[in-house]
Amino acid sequence: MASRLLSRTLPDVAAKAKVVKTLPDFSMANKVCMITGAARGLGNEFCRAFIHQELAKAACVDSEMVPSDYRIMGVGCDVSSELSVQQAFRRVMDTYGRIDSVVASAGIVENYSAFDYPSDRIKRLYDINVHGAFFTAREAARNMIPQGGGSIVLIASMSANIINIPQPQTPYNASKAAVKHMAASLAVEWAKTGVRVNCLSPGYMLTKLTRTILAHDQELKKTWESLTPMGRMGEPEDLAGAIVFLASDASRFMTGSEIRVDGGYCAI
Ligand SMILES: NC(=O)c1ccc[n+]([C@@H]2O[C@H](COP(=O)([O-])OP(=O)(O)OC[C@H]3O[C@@H](n4cnc5c(N)ncnc54)[C@H](O)[C@@H]3O)[C@@H](O)[C@H]2O)c1
Repeated sequence: MASRLLSRTLPDVAAKAKVVKTLPDFSMANKVCMITGAARGLGNEFCRAFIHQELAKAACVDSEMVPSDYRIMGVGCDVSSELSVQQAFRRVMDTYGRIDSVVASAGIVENYSAFDYPSDRIKRLYDINVHGAFFTAREAARNMIPQGGGSIVLIASMSANIINIPQPQTPYNASKAAVKHMAASLAVEWAKTGVRVNCLSPGYMLTKLTRTILAHDQELKKTWESLTPMGRMGEPEDLAGAIVFLASDASRFMTGSEIRVDGGYCAI
């Protein structure tokens, strides 16, 4: 009797086990992703992280040339110009018909002490880092809301939370604090539309942005590493898990949040 019961129930259990999902959906399959600042550095890594996921399609937006191939569409754009951002979104919508995930990664840093920083360069930095992120997020939401939602990730920095030493970079730090608060503010404005907005804040990562600074000061790398509890700078690939989590449905109840990936820098 017991063995007959077992033979009846085991296949049922096996059939149910096949459909039970234990993890949320990290898949980017068939999603259309748009990444600014994607010609190189972190933006380029985000693009790779997405297209390595099955059938995702990516539009790589940058003021520098991004070559197109069958999975990547290169789009020229200066994020500090609202018109240029609108034209980039129109090109992507005309090609793919929808946009599911947008990452605003275009950004610059410069090191000047406050008294020496030329005013026109400060304005340029805010135009790219702050207004560029805002134009990108607003255009993303304009396109996502009619299609029922999407995920926007603004790339801030640990500099939104701490003051980097020893290099002076007050306008950059302030711009990243603005980006972090922008993500939270837009998240609340759009919370009921299906559009989620979060920010990802990296610590010191090895890209052209940091290599340019380190080229003038080899000792600085050792200082940065000694200030980072994990004792090293991050590689762009170290952000792949976090960006896929934020861009995918795995983070579907998350909006207005920050994820720091900084080797423990902000923990001390
Ligand atoms: N590398 C780091 O250690 C680090 C740490 C924290 C945050 N971040 C942030 O991550 C983002 C990416 O940094 P990265 O290290 O990849 O820098 P990067 O210099 O390697 O790449 C930045 C990309 O942005 C593009 N870009 C610059 N101005 C643009 C504009 N006006 N319009 C369109 N594209 C433009 C550049 O052409 C380049 O391809 C930035 O927002 C940066 O502030 C970087």
